[in-house]
Amino acid sequence: MFDVNMIRKDFPMLNGKLMHEHPLIYFDNGATTLKPQVVIHSVCDYLTNYSGNAHRGDYDLSHEVDEQYEKTREIVKKFIHAQRKEEIVFTSGTTDSLNLVAYGYGKTHLKAGDEILLTVAEHASNTLPWFDVAREVGAIVKFIELDEKGRLTLENVKKAMSEKTKILAIAEVTNVLGYKAPMKEICAYAHQLKAIVVADGAQSVPHQNTDVQDTDVDFLAFSGHKMCGPTGVGVLYGKYDLLCETKPTRLGGGSNSRYNSCGVVTLKNPPYKFEAGTPNIEGVIGLGSAINYLSHLNMNDIEAHEKELRAYCIDKMSQLDNLEIYNQESTGAIAFNIKGVFSQDAASLFNTYGIAVRAGQHCAKILDEFLSVSSTLRVTFYFYNTKEEIDQFIDVCKKGDDFLDAFFG
Ligand code: ALA
Repeated sequence: MFDVNMIRKDFPMLNGKLMHEHPLIYFDNGATTLKPQVVIHSVCDYLTNYSGNAHRGDYDLSHEVDEQYEKTREIVKKFIHAQRKEEIVFTSGTTDSLNLVAYGYGKTHLKAGDEILLTVAEHASNTLPWFDVAREVGAIVKFIELDEKGRLTLENVKKAMSEKTKILAIAEVTNVLGYKAPMKEICAYAHQLKAIVVADGAQSVPHQNTDVQDTDVDFLAFSGHKMCGPTGVGVLYGKYDLLCETKPTRLGGGSNSRYNSCGVVTLKNPPYKFEAGTPNIEGVIGLGSAINYLSHLNMNDIEAHEKELRAYCIDKMSQLDNLEIYNQESTGAIAFNIKGVFSQDAASLFNTYGIAVRAGQHCAKILDEFLSVSSTLRVTFYFYNTKEEIDQFIDVCKKGDDFLDAFFG
């Protein structure tokens, strides 16, 4: 049974106080999420009780570390329904994962005149590496048109694709407008035209069931810290054959099986060829613990709870005349402004009441080519948020008018 009040007890930050008098209302889960005690414990346990290196020692301590580290690979594999655990590469996060695909696969497979398709709603991490790779190889970045609401549709994907399209790099759920892409249909169509699909899963994997075999996505990137895990750890999923064709972007210990003084290097098979150097062991162990925690709660229940929160919030927000909402019908983030108030000033107002929301461009700096404004407020819920918190948020939205009076009065 999904009981949000019980769940909230798992999060120390929801049971303490901020530095001022208000308890924390955390609505910036798109940026990062709070950590449950069980994750904090797993990281502390490693650092306190078995802090050896992975894949290097021939003693019990090192075997114990290997076991926990590789156990997480298996946990991730199950969580996203990958075919094999060798398809799970540990990285430092979504940005690192997307850079690895762009430079390790894109740069070695694209040639002059090939096309890479993105949308203007993509995060910088799924845009800038492609700009750079395209420049280096002479490929062309094109943008799939969004529909009038800001959604990516299969119809527009079809219009944008041609035999020149080699890679589509798109978010499963965008980080400002929050719309879900029809990923399965897009992959099926892209594969007919022999293009591959790279999915940014930073805002989807933490919030819904993920099945890479069902969507048939070729690469999927996501971060641990947006799903109750530690910062500095993330995942690149890739179909095994594609990972074999991907060049590591970092080399060093652990990624090779042998090399000689003539410079002949034999790399290990995926995923190890991508994991040079001592990995973020406590991060990986914490990620495993976070995924176990989420799986225990049940991803379907998490998604249902967030959907209910969003519908409740949109309903209340729509009743206020002083708000401009940019994505009423989405399922993820709510992007809005208090009319006449600069988004960062409004975020400061929310902060005064202990409510954390994000303001600005949210690392999606070309989205203003679609939206009529360059800067918005953004609220992003997670499963530990409540309707009572939303009521308090709505009360502050109403105060936006007072703020405006104070500002111009
Ligand atoms: N990518 C994070 C966000 O959208 C930081 O807020």
